[in-house]
Amino acid sequence: MEEHNVAAALEHFASYKDEYLSDLKNLVRIPSVSFPGFDAVSVRQSAEAVAKLLTRSGLKDVRTLETGAGHPSVFGQRIEVPGRPTVLLYAHHDVQPPGREEHWNSPPFEPTERGGRMYGRGVTDDKAGVIMHAAAVRSYLASVQTLPVNVKVLIEGEEEIGSANLESLLENHRDLLTADVVVIADSENFDSGYPSLTVSLRGIVTVNVEVRSLASSVHSGTWGGPLPDPVLALSRMLAALVDDQGRIAIPGMLDDVRPLSAAEKAGLDNLPFQESTYRKQTKLLDNAHIVGGSGSVYEKMWYAPSLSINAIEASSRKQAANIINDSAWARVGVRIVPDMDSQKTQELLIDHLKKNAPWGVTVTITPESPAPWWRMATQGFAFEAAVAALEKGYGKKPAIIGGGGSIPFVRTVTEALGGVPALLVGVGDPYTAAHSENENLLISDWENACRSIIHLLHELASRK
Ligand code: BES
Ligand code: MN
Repeated sequence: MEEHNVAAALEHFASYKDEYLSDLKNLVRIPSVSFPGFDAVSVRQSAEAVAKLLTRSGLKDVRTLETGAGHPSVFGQRIEVPGRPTVLLYAHHDVQPPGREEHWNSPPFEPTERGGRMYGRGVTDDKAGVIMHAAAVRSYLASVQTLPVNVKVLIEGEEEIGSANLESLLENHRDLLTADVVVIADSENFDSGYPSLTVSLRGIVTVNVEVRSLASSVHSGTWGGPLPDPVLALSRMLAALVDDQGRIAIPGMLDDVRPLSAAEKAGLDNLPFQESTYRKQTKLLDNAHIVGGSGSVYEKMWYAPSLSINAIEASSRKQAANIINDSAWARVGVRIVPDMDSQKTQELLIDHLKKNAPWGVTVTITPESPAPWWRMATQGFAFEAAVAALEKGYGKKPAIIGGGGSIPFVRTVTEALGGVPALLVGVGDPYTAAHSENENLLISDWENACRSIIHLLHELASRK
């Protein structure tokens, strides 16, 4: 079906890729951090820049979608090939906070090229995904004036804070978003130059814990001894969350974890693993152990729950004085897998924290909006189209992998649209440093990924 159109689109992309890269840089310059406490105006400016980009790419009906007090998403579509499937392309334009500025080798919001990589906050997660979709659409329209499928594009504005308004967005705009298949550009490749189709995601349950025992901090010499220290209390509560192997020790929390089938285990065993590579990718120091008991690293990252403490606050290094703090705070996240229930997980976590609170301290726990896990069948027209498109785009057969991260949109949208398939691809590699300082994009893989989306639109048209 119209092979020459694919060739023309690919040729267009090859000639204009520098322009698409400069579109990416322009998006990265806008500090669209969606977190509370950061400037929401920047997220809105980012949405407007995305809207302009989608219009310039040839999409119609481009508009921002508002979600009450939430950050704006951007929509556009091109519905003009009757009888062909409709593909909903998704990415997000909001980004993580920059982290510690002094750890960046170049400023986070000044995209900078070094050694074949582009550095900047959000350059991979997920502004590269935005440009992949826009470039694929424009490459067809600017060359052969037509797309192989009907296309809708949704670029979300609050993925990094858990997409709390997604359900209302889907309810309010269900007709606008109906599609036969969803393509999400927001995951990571197994390795540099190694395309991957991500067939599962973990979900997440997050709580904020505050422990308080005094109305204000006091001199630790004058008063220390009889007083309950809230930092120690919180430390004991947090320590009780795991056992001495670093495994989750919350009673009942692992009960619903679905064991891997023999075929799934074999799939994981077939992926190459080298401890030295893994240590390099994770920047794990030489003497530090790989924890979590027995089981492969991939199983622990993709098909088992994990618990982390993202932040702790009680005074600060700079202000560390001889005091007993009045309070201590921590943010705790649990990644969840099939068939764990987010509500139940949240309750078990809160109960366990409270049960382990010593000395009558006051514990206040504030949950954030959870995200569900997701898993797809590794068969069907969409799966096959993605495998073929990735192979053509990168010149290498894709790995079939799981994803340890979470994307609320995937499960929410596929269910809202009555069980349509979702294809999860992305351009991050193990050296991308998403969510960390010096986030970066391997430019050669970004080109491969753009080509893959061009192929994917064609593959979906010819298989459905
Ligand atoms: N792109 C990631 C999700 C991801 C990471 C998928 C690695 C597959 C592999 C996404 O932008 C992200 O970071 N999501 C948040 C979601 C949360 C706020 C609900 C996450 O996973 O922490
Ligand atoms: Mn992210």
